[in-house]
This record gives sequence, C-alpha cells and structure tokens, in this order.
Amino acid sequence: MFQNLVHAKVFQDYIEQSEFPTAPANLYDPIRYILSLSGKRIRPLLVTLGAALFDEAVLEASLPASTAIEFFHNFSLIHDDIMDKAPLRRGKETVHQKWNESVAILSGDALLVKAYEELAKCPSDKIVPLLRLFNQTALEVCEGQQYDMDFELRADVSQDEYIDMIRLKTSVLLGCALQMGAIIGGADIAAQQQLYAFGVNLGIAFQLQDDLLDVYGDPETFGKQVGGDILSNKKTILFIQLRERLQDSDKQLFEHLLGSDVEQEPDKVEKMKALYAKHDIRDFAEALKEKFTAVAYEQLRAIGVDEAKKTTLFALADALMNRKQ
Ligand code: IPE
Ligand code: IPE
Ligand code: MG
Ligand code: MG
Ligand code: MG
Repeated sequence: MFQNLVHAKVFQDYIEQSEFPTAPANLYDPIRYILSLSGKRIRPLLVTLGAALFDEAVLEASLPASTAIEFFHNFSLIHDDIMDKAPLRRGKETVHQKWNESVAILSGDALLVKAYEELAKCPSDKIVPLLRLFNQTALEVCEGQQYDMDFELRADVSQDEYIDMIRLKTSVLLGCALQMGAIIGGADIAAQQQLYAFGVNLGIAFQLQDDLLDVYGDPETFGKQVGGDILSNKKTILFIQLRERLQDSDKQLFEHLLGSDVEQEPDKVEKMKALYAKHDIRDFAEALKEKFTAVAYEQLRAIGVDEAKKTTLFALADALMNRKQ
C-alpha cells in the first residue's frame, strides 16, 4: 500500500534481515509465516515519519523501534485471531488454524520477546522514555482486548464505552508509534504529546474503518473473514448504533440474531446487514469516522513544524481512511 515510500523501503530492508532460529520449527515457523504475509506495515511507517518530522537524519536510528512496534502488532494479531476465532489473516490461514492454538500462543509470546529485543537496540539515551511509553501502551492494548471480549457478552454497550475500548485496543498503538518516532527525533514533550494525540484520533478513525470493512469489505482484498464481527456478536460501532435505533419487530429480529449462532441462523450476517441498511447505519459510521479524522488533522496541523514536512503523514492518513484492506 505504501511500499513506494522511501521510509517503507528502508524499513522493509531492515526487517527482512531479522533472523529467527530454525528449531523448534513450531515455535519459529509461525513467526516467519505471519511476518511474511503482506501487512500494510503502517505502524513502523508512523515511527519513521514521526521521527522525520523533527529530524530527517534519524531514519536509521528509528528502525529498531519501528520493528519493535511491528513485532508487537503481529504478536497481538496472532493472539487476537485465537480470541476472535478468525480463520483468515492477510488473505491466508491464521496461525492457530494452520498450526494449533497452543502453537499460536507460544509463538506469539516469543514474538513479543523479540519486540523487546529490538527495543534494546534503540538509541541508548532514549531507551528509558521509549520503554516507558511502550510498556504503558502494551498494557493498554491488553485492557482494550479484554473489554472487547467482555463486550461480546453484553448487549448494552454504550458508544462512549465502545470508543474507549477501541482507543485502548487499537489507537494507542498508533499514537505510541508516532510518539516513539518523535522521541527519537528529539521533539520536546509538548510536540510529542500533540503527535500522540493525532495518532490516537487517527487510530479511532482507523478502527471505525476496520469495523466497516468487516461488514462491507470485498473478500478478495480485505484479507479477513467478512462478517466475522457479526458472527461473534462484536460490539462494533455498527452494532451499537443499530441497537439504539431499533424498535418493535426489528428489535425482535435483532435479538433473535444475537441469540443465534450460524448453525441456528445460517443467514445471520445477511439479516444483520439488512437491518444496518434499513436504519442507515453505514452512513452514521462513515460520518463518525470522518469526524475523528478531522480532529486528527487539526492536531497534526497544530504541530509547530514546517507544513511541507507533514505532507506524507496527511497522505498516509487519507489513504488509511479510504483503504480496502
Ligand atoms: C489490524 O491492523 C488490527 C487492527 C487494529 C484493526 P492492520 O489493519 O494494520 O493490519 P495489517 O498489519 O495491515 O495486516
Ligand atoms: C484488533 O481488533 C486489535 C488488536 C489486534 C489489538 P480487531 O479484532 O477488530 O482486528 P482484526 O479485524 O482482527 O484485524
Ligand atoms: Mg479482536
Ligand atoms: Mg480480530
Ligand atoms: Mg476488525
């Protein structure tokens, strides 16, 4: 998606040099496998672009932090796919499906350790703030993932609770990537925080787009199972907004769908999509995504560096909000 950017190319070269032992194969093959699948690699790009905003010369120095973030992200995906019972990732079988759940748990754990190994290679005068931010973010991602699972069992999740859940499970990692870049680039605390805030709002819009793609994505390009969120009763923005709008007979149908698995109701996804269409839910979600994107853009505009330096970040944000994968 962004392979032509010089920052992406430099990162690609760096991460391809990562070596993992060959034995035990069931520990390291899944790591090689997930890293070889074509992810968008936006988080490492955010690290390098965040750094470049403040100092063009630190690209090389930002590569271990970029890799740490991408390793952490892939670790979280391996475990997320177990939790979400997802069959597909990046157009291929998920790790737990291809191997088994125990292999997915342990190879995920090993990849998390590998992320810390990369962190230890960051510029030594920056390691303490980088580690502090990374650890705080990693815990928040776990908190968000726990809320995500808790919410599967609740129907009455409010929009505010939802936004906070996606802030934790998804957005803080985008903010963290940018702020790590800013730390390496020598930005002052105020600028670091502004960039972090841009990342968090962009991340909320990013997860709203992910929820939309889960329902309306093209199975050819999306790379994940379309309809997976509906099947597992995920509390997505679409679900929450629909629930708030329903009355009478539609409400009964909705509750029936919620209480049915795919064996009991083979058309669960189609029937839920019909309710979304009837109640204009897609437009609502798109508008909310635009709102968070606009807030993010405001925050990027407010950062006191030359506007020309922000062009790539704006373009990246734009592409992410209109992505198909
Ligand atoms: C997927 O992230 C997980 C979410 C937070 C929605 P990406 O959409 O960045 O996944 P890859 O790395 O490109 O596959
Ligand atoms: C995942 O959210 C966030 C993390 C992996 C931490 P989702 O469960 O919506 O991500 P996808 O859709 O599986 O990529
Ligand atoms: Mg999930
Ligand atoms: Mg998932
Ligand atoms: Mg999703």
